Amino acid sequence: MSADDNKKAAAQAALQHVTPGSVVGIGTGSTANHFIDLLAGIRHKIDGAVASSEVSAQRLRGHGIQVLDLNSVDDLPLYVDGADESNHNLQLIKGGGGALTREKIVAAVAGKFVCIADGSKLVDVLGSFPLPVEVIPMARSYVARQIVGLGGNPMWRDGFVTDNGNLILDVHNLEIMEAAKMEERLNNITGVVTNGLFARRPADVLILGTDDGVKVME
Ligand code: A5P
Repeated sequence: MSADDNKKAAAQAALQHVTPGSVVGIGTGSTANHFIDLLAGIRHKIDGAVASSEVSAQRLRGHGIQVLDLNSVDDLPLYVDGADESNHNLQLIKGGGGALTREKIVAAVAGKFVCIADGSKLVDVLGSFPLPVEVIPMARSYVARQIVGLGGNPMWRDGFVTDNGNLILDVHNLEIMEAAKMEERLNNITGVVTNGLFARRPADVLILGTDDGVKVME
């Protein structure tokens, strides 16, 4: 089985969390894309979707799924999204695709966050994957200096602009033992919009597609 087959198997398993007649929160990335494509098969059973990125919104519309503004949605029982890394407490690094801020907003609103990934994303300690930080453009250098002070090595994702018109710093060399503290510390740097640590609001369920089948952690 390829990593992509495993992503698709995880996405398939997440379908059972969809409540008929509800709005579904949808993430961004190749695993979320599998989920969107599978959701199309039951589109008549849902009231629509909220998307964490423009690219996911386009894909949803392409399947005839109505995309709603989060502000017009009263109840969002479920958010389904991928991750770049997860530890065993279901704390995540996200934002490899640069959609971390909207992802974090939709995850905050959702009653349940189901994370779908291939088995390679499960790690003991977060931080091998460079941690994305979304930054207001004029604060880029200042924020980078502050992150160096925390022991990280920030690299500007040159040429990339987020859906919110901001920049991304990918922070290398962080061994993240206390993820919630690091999340807070980074968010407290003036000019940071948010960072890709999902520790204060981790996933509720992690569905991993592996060569030995689908594994579920809660
Ligand atoms: C998007 O910004 C990310 O948070 C994705 O959820 C993450 O990069 C996982 O992507 P894949 O599903 O493509 O591995």
